Amino acid sequence: MEKENGKLSFPAGFTWGTATASYQIEGAVAEDGRTPSIWDTFSHTPGKVFNDDNGDIACDHYHKYEEDLDLLAQLGVDSYRFSISWTRIHPDVTGPGNEAGLDFYKRLIAGLLDRGIKPLPTMYHWDLPQSLEDKGGWMNRETALRFGDYASTVLERLEGIDMWTTFNEPWTNAWLGYGYGIHAPGRNDIGGAAAATHHFLLAHGLGVQAARSIRPEAEIGLTLNLGHLRSGSSDPEDLAAQRRIDGNLTRIWMDPIFKGTYPQDMLDHYRPYEPGFSVIEPGDMELISQPIDFLGVNFYGPGTVFAAGQEQRARENGFNVGPAPEDPDADHLQVLGVETPGRPKTAMGWEIDAKGLHELLVRIKDEYTDIPLYITENGAAFQDYVNASGEVKDPERIKYLEEHLEACANAIKDGVNLRGYFIWSMLDNFEWAMGYSRRFGIVWVDYDTGRRIPKSSFHWYKELIAANKLVPANS
Ligand code: FCB
Repeated sequence: MEKENGKLSFPAGFTWGTATASYQIEGAVAEDGRTPSIWDTFSHTPGKVFNDDNGDIACDHYHKYEEDLDLLAQLGVDSYRFSISWTRIHPDVTGPGNEAGLDFYKRLIAGLLDRGIKPLPTMYHWDLPQSLEDKGGWMNRETALRFGDYASTVLERLEGIDMWTTFNEPWTNAWLGYGYGIHAPGRNDIGGAAAATHHFLLAHGLGVQAARSIRPEAEIGLTLNLGHLRSGSSDPEDLAAQRRIDGNLTRIWMDPIFKGTYPQDMLDHYRPYEPGFSVIEPGDMELISQPIDFLGVNFYGPGTVFAAGQEQRARENGFNVGPAPEDPDADHLQVLGVETPGRPKTAMGWEIDAKGLHELLVRIKDEYTDIPLYITENGAAFQDYVNASGEVKDPERIKYLEEHLEACANAIKDGVNLRGYFIWSMLDNFEWAMGYSRRFGIVWVDYDTGRRIPKSSFHWYKELIAANKLVPANS
């Protein structure tokens, strides 16, 4: 890491990118043979998503992808991270791939390659076929096997891809979706969420196996959201609670992948919940822990944990105690929702503290692996608006991004093998349970007309990419 004229320069070859996901941007939910996913069902269930929004049209990227490709080219990114919709490829789960669905992604990939942009597809970003959910979804081992079929189809049929990712944030789908009911499929079942955790990891292993045999020349990895959690105090109870939650967010994923075993404290904790980790079968851990080529890290902000019942101590330590998490396991999780006064927050209510990203990256290197890391998502929602001159100025987002890139630069300086950075998101889009009420894009989307307006952060990022340098936020 070089610092010249007050600017941090990134290593030559550092990958600059932006990210999106299929259900959040594509729309066209009933076109070219696509069948419903769990997010279609969930978003069409009244009361589940803010304002009862859904992804039926979203950014209409399915029809406007050429325009979006031109925006990517204008931005000058090296790589574009997107996800493939399983039900466009295998509408009936079994059987051959659906040509019309495959054609969409072939056109998208060709359009990227024509513009000199590397495609980074994610095979699964939460849009499970509803027909598999009807048989238990990720709580059912069969889903992992069917994922293996689907992974083989996309690997065989989509050409020109150097890097593949199996999963995006399986924690979120397993725990917010199956455990806490906040995301699709909206179940409240801790034992089911633990079983889903294992089946996600198993499916990842099957995806890696398929990639090694079908595309041995390609790199394969996955993206995790590794919660960076701090204990609210040095009280042993709070430290234990922090370790407990860290086990669920981070160790339960990283240990199997990089060490081939689940953490013993997590196996013990989830033993009373059926089926939980009783679904592990011989040979699974070997599949899960096959070497991968890179790890994607999504980071938005750190969190703080106190033991349950410690509201008073949290207040004494300077924290506002937020609402208790909607978590049926909360007694055991022993976590309180906390907010740090005086610390800035995004429109999601998430605390902004880029030091957490630096600490997380160093921890991955120290505790787990030295394989190449990519920040596959980092970004923030703010209250953007189109001003009277028709522009969208988003200085808070630029500041957020600068601070996090500085944390990346510092991590590289400290020996972290960080190879690239993707902003979430290229476009404003359907923000899951928050519907269209939260905007993460560096491009504004007018949902009535489909019009795109690059925000100031887009122009800022374009300059940064061209220079491969960052003027640190606090310099
Ligand atoms: C991540 C998701 C992504 C987006 C951001 C804000 O958890 O992977 O789709 O919603 O959060």
